[in-house]
Amino acid sequence: MNTGADVSAPGGDGTFETVLVVDFGAQYAQLIARRVREAGIYSEIVSPSITAEEIAERAPGGLIFSGGPASVHVEGAPRIDTAVYDLEIPILGICYGAQLIAQQNGGTVGRTDKGEYGRTTLTIAETDHGPSAGCLLDGLPLEQSVWMSHFDAIVDPPTGVPATASTAEAPVAAFEHPERGLYGVQFHPEVVHTPHGQHVIEQFLHVGCGLAGNWNMSSIIDSAVDLIRAQVGTGNVMCGLSGGVDSAVAAALVHRAIGDQLTCVFVDTGLMRLDEGSQVIETFGRHMGIRLISVDAGVRFFAALEGITEPETKRKAIGELFIRVFEDAKSDLDDVGFLVQGTLYPDVIESGNEHAATIKSHHNVGGLPDDIDFALVEPLRSLFKDEVRKLGTELGLPDEIVLRQPFPGPGLGVRIIGEVTPDKVSTLQHADAIVREELRLAGLEREIWQSFAVLPDIRSVGVMGDERTYGYPLIIRAVTSEDAMTADWARIPYDVLEAMSSRVINEVPGINRVAYDITSKPPGTIEWE
Ligand code: XMP
Repeated sequence: MNTGADVSAPGGDGTFETVLVVDFGAQYAQLIARRVREAGIYSEIVSPSITAEEIAERAPGGLIFSGGPASVHVEGAPRIDTAVYDLEIPILGICYGAQLIAQQNGGTVGRTDKGEYGRTTLTIAETDHGPSAGCLLDGLPLEQSVWMSHFDAIVDPPTGVPATASTAEAPVAAFEHPERGLYGVQFHPEVVHTPHGQHVIEQFLHVGCGLAGNWNMSSIIDSAVDLIRAQVGTGNVMCGLSGGVDSAVAAALVHRAIGDQLTCVFVDTGLMRLDEGSQVIETFGRHMGIRLISVDAGVRFFAALEGITEPETKRKAIGELFIRVFEDAKSDLDDVGFLVQGTLYPDVIESGNEHAATIKSHHNVGGLPDDIDFALVEPLRSLFKDEVRKLGTELGLPDEIVLRQPFPGPGLGVRIIGEVTPDKVSTLQHADAIVREELRLAGLEREIWQSFAVLPDIRSVGVMGDERTYGYPLIIRAVTSEDAMTADWARIPYDVLEAMSSRVINEVPGINRVAYDITSKPPGTIEWE
């Protein structure tokens, strides 16, 4: 995993109130982090192996323990350094996180006869003095719908901590002791199926932790600008523009910070979509007023990819050549010591760390060669995609850039299965352009996260006119997603699929069959390689 500088990324540098989300292995940890940010507070995901001392050093305003698949009763289940409870930092436990707080603080977690999954009614506890909603549930109806997903259940809350709500299967569905800063909920406030969930999270953040919320687009820009200036000083900086949102926003941000010290380089890898190279040059020249050099490197990329079929080898080869092309471009410029990369938070998480498996080496993170000759400036490294889009708008970038669908750094190289050749790229470019055009004509482009075509390395028999054909199939891939971490296949109407299919087969020589990929992520990934 790349350990390049993240010194220019806003957040995590002490400028912002921070909440650390301890990830106990849930698919929910990122969702929790996003919900916290939606409440205007910077959040970061950390591993349960973090020590109380390390947490104290970060001085977060609050901690959230996520849910997770383990049972607290199982040996080897992830736990947290119990000294965190002495730090006087408010803690909210969610599902497994709440059970762990109970278990580590004198409560009991039992097995219910049956677990609780899906929507359940949560009832606020009654006391002699009336309902006791506490801080988290303050202002909410006495009965509300919440989303549950648990087998174990808290039977006794932590010693001295009152329960504030229950459900049919969970006698302690919420507990809290504001003076001790201990809060727990058995349900999942971060999912949309818990209608008042964001309220619960915000009560914890604003009332429980006393955080005001200073994480917003203009403060992020101010902070990033300061950090970029501090990192690069009077040095010269290069930025690779891919045509995608991330590099465009990163470039605009760096340009805001250091103006003419920045030169952008557009490398035409030959693996771009149809006419994309000329569009990028035109759009960025017109809108951004940034010095832009364009390098036509298609021949070099095809040579480097010759004979390579293994996806990771391909990604690494493309990533490495990218850097080499930059280094060559650099030698034509004055003394450039820094390279801007539009790396995002999900890229950092997905490229693998000690707790997460490497799924793919994203070429702007894991695919970088070790002997890289630049210091990296990665101002978006702490941001999710939707935050980057908002940042782009705040920086004045037009919708045609900011609302673009994501496009992977290795381009069509990871959408051609098997060896990448100029002929296959040309075939795919034309088919891909038809797929995207038909979606645009159907008015579906904006509601779809990504839509594209994939060219696999197999051929099948068909018949056209009276002739036998033996050609490639084209796979259409279109997904809806919020952040690319999970995705669902888009329910494209049949008539749109039919238009794509007949146009592709009639207009693109070499393709005689079209298939639609109906795999969500997980278990699939969005790209095929
Ligand atoms: P996967 O295929 O992993 O993709 O589900 C998730 C999102 O990331 C994009 N992607 C990349 N973006 N460099 C990038 O900048 C890469 O190497 C890369 N690989 C995948 C993909 O298009 C999707 O939006």
